[in-house]
Order: sequence, then C-alpha cells, then structure tokens
Amino acid sequence: GVSELGPYRHFMQKEIFEQPRAIADTLQGLEGIAPDLFGADALPVLRKADSVLILACGTSYYAGLTAKYWLESVARIPVEVEIASEYRYRDSVPHENRLVVTISQSGETADTLAALRHARELGMDGSLTICNVATSAMVRECALAYITRAGVEIGVASTKAFTTQLTALFLLSLTIAQIRGRLTPEQEAEYIRMLRHLPAAVSAVLALEPQIIAWAEEFSRHNDALFLGRGIHYPIALEGALKLKEISYIHAEAYPAGELKHGPLALVTEKMPVVTIAPNDDLLEKLKSNMQEVRARGGQLYVFADSDTKIVSEEGIHVIRMPENYGLLSPILHVIPLQLLAYHTALVRGTDVDKPRNLAKSVTVE
Ligand code: G6P
Repeated sequence: GVSELGPYRHFMQKEIFEQPRAIADTLQGLEGIAPDLFGADALPVLRKADSVLILACGTSYYAGLTAKYWLESVARIPVEVEIASEYRYRDSVPHENRLVVTISQSGETADTLAALRHARELGMDGSLTICNVATSAMVRECALAYITRAGVEIGVASTKAFTTQLTALFLLSLTIAQIRGRLTPEQEAEYIRMLRHLPAAVSAVLALEPQIIAWAEEFSRHNDALFLGRGIHYPIALEGALKLKEISYIHAEAYPAGELKHGPLALVTEKMPVVTIAPNDDLLEKLKSNMQEVRARGGQLYVFADSDTKIVSEEGIHVIRMPENYGLLSPILHVIPLQLLAYHTALVRGTDVDKPRNLAKSVTVE
C-alpha cells in the first residue's frame, strides 16, 4: 500500500534511499576484522582456502565480479567468478581447497543452489554464502554465512541487496587478507573507519538525485546506451546497464573502456549516450583517452566523475561530480547514481518499475 512507501513513488526508489541504513545495519556490531564474522567455525575453513570460486546470478553475479578485484588485490587469493547456471552444467576441473562462495539476495535461486550442490559433489565442501535471508536454503546448505541486513527488498531490480553484498564481500576480503598475513592493524583500522563512514558517503551521493533527474529526460528518448568502466568499476558498468535494461527496456551494454576499439566503437554515433564511470584511480588517464575515442565519433558522454578529477562539462561531455573519491570502496558509491539513472529514466518512460515485464524477484525454478 501507499503508506509503506512514505514519500517515495516506488519500492525501488525507497530501497535506493534505504541504502545508507541497509549498509549500516549490515555492519552493525562490527568492531574489527575476525573470521567469526562468518560463523563460529570459520577460521579452519577460510585458512584451508587457496583460491575462491564465486557462484551467483544476475546482480549478485556482478557483486561477485566486483569482489574478485578486492580478494585478489587485498587478500592476494586467486578468484574465479562464474554464472551459476553455466557452472552447474560445465565439465569444470574440481579443486579441493577452493572456497565456494555463493551470493544471493533470496537464498533460494534454483541455479545458484544447484551450482553449490554441484561444487560439493565435485569435492569442494568449503562453502560460504553472502545472503540476505537467514532462514533460506542457501544459508542452511553453506558451512559459513554472512547475513546482509538489507531488509526485505520488493523491487524486482535489486539495489540495496547489491550494496550490502558488496559491503559483506569487502569484509570477507579483509578477513581472508588477515588470515593470510596481509592486513596490518593500521590497515584494518583505516578500512574499518572507511566502512563506518560509508553510510554517510552513500547519503551524499543520493543527494545527486536532482541532477540525475535532469539527465533521465534525455535518456528516455534513446533506445540504446553504452556503459563504460575500467578495472573494479567495469562490473559496476555491467550492473548499471542491467538496471537500465531491466526497468526502462532500453537496450544497454557495458564494456571495459579499453575494449571499445575492438567492437562497440562501431555503434557510437551522435545518437548514442555513453555513460562513463570515472573514479580518480590509476586508470583515469587511460579512461580519458577512451572518452576522446567516443567524442571523436560524436557520441554523447554522461560522466560520473570523482570530485578530484579534472573532468569538466564541455561540448558533448556532461558531468556529474561524485562528492568523494572513496578509494577501494568506490564501486559502492559509483553504482548509486546508475541505479537512480535507471529508475528516473524508467519513470519518464512510464514502465512498471517495481515489476518489470517478464522478470521475477526470485527465480526458484530453472
Ligand atoms: C532475479 C532478480 C535479480 C537477482 C537475481 C539473483 O533475476 O530479478 O534482481 O539479482 O534473480 O537473485 P538472488 O536472490 O540469488 O540474488
């Protein structure tokens, strides 16, 4: 009913704005990094792992792709991320000491559960889930769990579940780093400080909504959009494109910006909006030259740029400034405006935002 929505028009919008609280709740009680964040028996299971296999579907899969960057760079553990419905039917090479990590909002997605069971049948019994439902099949079937506290998510397009999954996956990366002797107490203190400030940082990004509404009008007139990101923001570009296609029915594709020249550049004309995620990281200069490749073909760039970059609005380049460069946790901030862009574009188009055609909140059958 309308009363549950408060000042919001849709559950998706409400859930986007609940993210500061959802992240704070997911971090509730956090005092420091320790294996028992994942369960009383976590230490032996995590210590045994010499690599990680992440299995998930949809938005949860993109959380997994993002976590690969954290796990490899912070914990120095090799990671594979696989779409659950592909993994379960693939003749893969089992690997005894691989920790199987499933990510699922519902904990009931049939393909993810089947992939977990498949991995177990192949001899991989060290398992951990990042899940939003404590009573789900996924939590029952995994040895270890971190329960995200996003609260009930009603909008079919996942938003607060995703950012809380990322929060939990960052904690997992720090925990494995600690076990592997790669987290100094100083680093731990600094990451905890950043995590505690995260809800406030997300709130500051949500305040960009009026600027994004101004872009949505223009976006709603197109039938295609391209999303570019590099490094850890490439999965965020994938998630942004997924959000837009799910609820606005605009065909959207994401590419790692360095791959533009190997195909998608052929699609770029003055009719193509190109959303670009521009954090101030090591890849910024390379990203800027990718942006020039787009401009040279007349493409219109819509850039979410960290405040400490020198990217400014000019002919064909529209810029919204992100309030804060958030370092390693930057993906959690950069996905927020993409959620809002999809939401407001869908609103202009008049689609059924909370229940997009042909999609279900939780796919419990194959
Ligand atoms: C469906 C939902 C998506 C979700 C995916 C995986 O496709 O529409 O929003 O990301 O299932 O769901 P899970 O509950 O396993 O995260």
